[in-house]
Formats: sequence, C-alpha cells, structure tokens
Amino acid sequence: MLFLRLSSALLLTATCFLMTADAIETVTTCDNTISVQRLNCAENGVISVQEALYGRSDRVTCSEGRFPHQLADTSCSQPGTLDALRRRCNGRKVCELNTDTIKSTDPCYGISKYLQTNYTCLPAIHRIVCENSFTSLQCDEGQVINVYGAHYGRLDRSICSFQRPAFETQNVLCSRPVSSVAERCNGRNSCSIKVSNGEFGDPCYGTFKYLEMSYTCLYPE
Ligand SMILES: *[C@@H]1O[C@H](CO)[C@@H](O)[C@H](O)[C@H]1NC(C)=O
Repeated sequence: MLFLRLSSALLLTATCFLMTADAIETVTTCDNTISVQRLNCAENGVISVQEALYGRSDRVTCSEGRFPHQLADTSCSQPGTLDALRRRCNGRKVCELNTDTIKSTDPCYGISKYLQTNYTCLPAIHRIVCENSFTSLQCDEGQVINVYGAHYGRLDRSICSFQRPAFETQNVLCSRPVSSVAERCNGRNSCSIKVSNGEFGDPCYGTFKYLEMSYTCLYPE
C-alpha cells in the first residue's frame, strides 16, 4: 500500500515534469513503410521545433531487422529538414507528417534512415478562423504580437464545416504555411486579418478552408 502510494506520487511528479513548457520531447520515426510522426502540444501550448534530423546519426536507432551495412553511415543528414519541419509544424497544436513529406533527395543511398524531431510546447494564443471571416489579434498595452505560425488549408473534416457540402470538407490533406500574418502583425500591438484566398492564395481549389495560427504577446526589447 505504501509502495503503491509512493509510486503514484512519483508518477505524478514525473508527469508534471513532462508537462512543463521547457521539456523537450523527442520523437523518432523509422523510415520503413509509410510511417506517421505525430508532434502533440494539444494539452499545453503550441509546437516549437528545436532540432530535426532525417538520416542517421548512430548505429542503434531504428536498427531492428537491419543489416550492418545499412547502419554504417552515422553522419547522414538531409539538409533543410529542420526548416521543413518548422514550416509545417510550428505554431500548431498537433502536427502529423511522414517521412515522404519531408524527403527531398536521398541523403545516403542504401542506408536505413529515420526522422528524429525534438520539440517543445510553448504557451500561446491559438486560433482557428474559417474562410471568409476576419479576425483581429490584440495584445495588452505596451506589448507586441509575435506570430509563431500560421497555416491556411484544411487538415480536419469537422473544423469550419457547419452546413458546408461534403465535397468542400473532404480534402484534409491541404495546408500551406503562410507568411503574411507574421508580416502584417509582428511587432504591432494589434492587427486584423481577412481569411481568404485573396490574402493567402488558394492551396486547394474547391475546398472550404481555414486559418490556424498562434501568437504570443511580448514586451518589445
Ligand atoms: C534530440 O535530443 C536528444 C537528447 O538531447 C539528442 O540526443 C538528439 O541528438 C537530438 N536530436 C536531434 C535531431 O538533434
């Protein structure tokens, strides 16, 4: 009984520790079949990608069932992986992708590779705004907006779907990182955004889309 209580107290402490904002989470996804990598900050903020590797940096990770020669190159890394992950996931609560999405050219032919991402969850104001709506971002007096990320498209069937015909909500593989929110709002105390194809371009014609974005308010330096 005492032991049980003790271990649940320890478990609780460990859980709390994992949930602090600075904790870095590591996800490693082996590149064999089509595998999914999921970054998740749904409970505690928005994603901020710290490091990402597509390739291989040791002989142990994802080595199960592999031949030694497939593990031989431990300095294999695809350039641009970190940027690709940041563009795709920063500022979102959940981000799912697979290695096919970020693979450009094969950085080390014949070597068994994996995608490893280190990320943290930052506290932020997170917002989803449907196409053809306006939103305004507002910080307290003396503070300025700092946009973490903004994506326009559709990744979910149920969001912004009320009374829309099914064919407008069924494409859930459409998302484009957009820079105009940051360009318009960063460093300002408030700003307003029209969520439309005119503003962001149309990443998937015929689909009813939404903007997902997150920002924080900072005191200017
Ligand atoms: C992620 O963090 C771990 C632990 O600090 C480190 O060993 C690993 O190399 C990091 N991964 C990347 C891709 O930088």
